[in-house]
Amino acid sequence: MKILVVNGPNLNLLGLREPELYGNRTYADLERHVRETAGRLGVEVEVRQTNHEGVIVDWIQQSRGEFAAVVLNAAAYTHTSVAILDAIKAVKARVVEVHLTDPSTREGFRRVSYVGMAAERTFAGFGFDSYTKAMEYLAEG
Ligand code: DQA
Repeated sequence: MKILVVNGPNLNLLGLREPELYGNRTYADLERHVRETAGRLGVEVEVRQTNHEGVIVDWIQQSRGEFAAVVLNAAAYTHTSVAILDAIKAVKARVVEVHLTDPSTREGFRRVSYVGMAAERTFAGFGFDSYTKAMEYLAEG
């Protein structure tokens, strides 16, 4: 099984960015965590990050045929992007939504998740372990 992990805007600044919310570990640490988890579960993984909404749309479209599923932390675009929702629906991508924090307990504008409207599961509020749980869920089939 080949999984695509997509990280959206500002996640490249992990470690620096609001550490009281997102912790002190860096984006490189997150990538390492995801790769180690993949190794343990015996799945293939590709980990990407972009700050650009359209690039996420492109990657979701292109995942079709190449990846069995996408683990998606669309970050702020989660709460705004009809384009990402449409891309997931268009290619019938198998998407598991993840967040480091739990957006439902934060500001009101984070309570809407366009990604969540098309994702088959959501894991939020577990830090790096949101990714662990998403990958375990997919590996279990
Ligand atoms: C986030 C939550 C989003 O609301 C926020 O915009 C992010 C990160 C998370 O992983 O907790 O950038 O997706």
